[in-house]
Amino acid sequence: MRVALLGCGTVGSEVVRLLHSQSADLAARIGARLEIAGIAVRRIGRDRGELPVDPAVFTADPFDLVKRDDIDVVVECVGGIEPARSWLVEALRAGKSVVTANKALLAEDGGALHDAAAQGGGDLYYEAAVAGAIPLLRPLRESLHGDRVTQVTGIVNGTTNFILSAMDTTGAGFAEALAEATDLGYAEADPTADVEGFDAAAKAAILASLAFHTRVGAADVHREGITEVTAADVASAKAMGCTIKLLCIAARGTAADGRETVSVRVHPAMIPLSHPLASVGDAFNAVFVEAEAAGQLMFYGPGAGGAPTASAVLGDVVAVSRNRLAGVRAASESAYADLPVRPMGEALTRYHISLDVTDRPGVLAAVAGVFAEHGVSIATVRQGAAGSGVAGRDEDADLVIVTHVAPDAALAATVQALRGLDAVRSVASVLRVEGSA
Ligand code: NDP
Ligand code: HSE
Repeated sequence: MRVALLGCGTVGSEVVRLLHSQSADLAARIGARLEIAGIAVRRIGRDRGELPVDPAVFTADPFDLVKRDDIDVVVECVGGIEPARSWLVEALRAGKSVVTANKALLAEDGGALHDAAAQGGGDLYYEAAVAGAIPLLRPLRESLHGDRVTQVTGIVNGTTNFILSAMDTTGAGFAEALAEATDLGYAEADPTADVEGFDAAAKAAILASLAFHTRVGAADVHREGITEVTAADVASAKAMGCTIKLLCIAARGTAADGRETVSVRVHPAMIPLSHPLASVGDAFNAVFVEAEAAGQLMFYGPGAGGAPTASAVLGDVVAVSRNRLAGVRAASESAYADLPVRPMGEALTRYHISLDVTDRPGVLAAVAGVFAEHGVSIATVRQGAAGSGVAGRDEDADLVIVTHVAPDAALAATVQALRGLDAVRSVASVLRVEGSA
C-alpha cells in the first residue's frame, strides 16, 4: 500500500516514526505493507532530526506526488485551505483514498472533498481533525448511526485549554502560556486560529455535521476566542466556585415555527468546578455526546501534539488501506437531514456579569430594572464580595449578577443597556455560564 505524505512537521514527522516503528504490526493488521512512496514538504533541506525514511522520498512538489499513478493513499498533514484543497480534490477524483488532519479545510469546504471522494470511489477519513488522539469521529459516523444525537459539548482545542488551565492554576500570563503551548507543538502554524476560536469553530462544524447529518460550515458557527479573558475573569470565576473553559456546544433545537434546527457555538464560559469538564487540564480535550437512546457518553484524551495526532492518522490509514484491499469504501457523507442553523441570538444561555457601580440608594433597583426590561431573570446578586473583581471603594460597589437562562440576544442587549446606565461606572466582565441549573 503506497502512501504519499503531504507535510512532515509536528504531525507528519510523527506519522513517519509511528509507521516505521509499527510497520510489522500494521502490515499484519492491513494485510499489506505500508510504504512511504513520497513526502512533500515546503523546505526540502530543513533539519528534521532522525527520521527513519530514505531522504530521496522528499519532494517540494505536492501536486506531482498526488498525481502519481503508484499512490494508493494520500495523507495530508500540511493544513490551510489552498493549496491543500486542490491536492486532495485531485487525489480523490483520481480514486485515491485520503486521510487528513486538516479541520480548517473540512470546515471551510468539506463538501468539495466529500463530493470528490464520491466521484473517485476512494475513502475520505479525518479522525485526527477533531480532538487529536481521541476516537470521536468514528463513533459519531458509525457507532451512533442507530441513535439520535441531541447535543455535543466539549473542549476541543488543546492550546486554549492549556492557556486557560495555566492562568487558573499557576497564574501564568496569557502570552507566556501561549508560547509554551507553541513550543510543545499544540498550536496551529498561526496561533490566532487557536486563541480566537477559529480552530475550535472548525471542529465544532465537523462535529455538528456528523452528529446532525447536516452540512455545517465554519461560517455557521458562532465564534468567540479567549483573548479577552482576563486574570480578573479567572479570579471572578474562582470566587464563584467555577473555572473558565473554551467550550464548543452543538445542539438540536426547535424554531418558533416548529421546525427542527441546529445551533453551533464556541465561546469561553464559566463552568462549576463540580462539572466533569472543569478537571480537563493542559492540552487534553473532552467531549460529551448526548444521544436519545445511549444517554451521555464522554470522550477524553490528548487533544493535540504530534504523537497523539499521528495515532489517529495511522488508525485512519489502516482503515482506508483495508477498504482498498477489500475493494470497498466506507459509507459516504450523511447530510440528508439538512437542518437549518439557528442564529446565536436565539441560543439559550446564562450570563455572569461583573459591574462597577456607584454605591448609593436605588442603584440596585435601576440595574435590576434593565434586566426586567429585557425579559432577563436574575438568579443571584452579590455586592462587593472579596475576590469578585474590583474591591468595593467607599463610593463604589462591585456587583456580580448571574442570570437565569435567556435568549443570547436579550442578554447581549441587557449588557449594552447597562453600559449606558449612569450608575454603572463600567462593565468589568461578561461571561456565559454553562453546566448548572
Ligand atoms: P506544521 O507547521 O508543524 O507542519 C506543516 C508541514 O507542512 C511542514 O512539514 C511544512 O513543510 C509542510 N508545508 C507547509 N506548506 C507546504 C506547501 N505549500 N507545500 C508542501 N508542504 C508544505 O503543522 P502541524 O504538523 O502541526 O499540523 C499539520 C496539520 O495537522 C494541520 O492541518 C493542523 O491543523 C493539523 N493538526 C495538528 C495538530 C497538532 O497538535 N499540531 C493536531 C491535530 C491536527 P516544512 O517542514 O518544509 O516547513
Ligand atoms: N491547535 C490545535 C489545538 C491542534 O490546540 O487543539 C489540535 O487540533
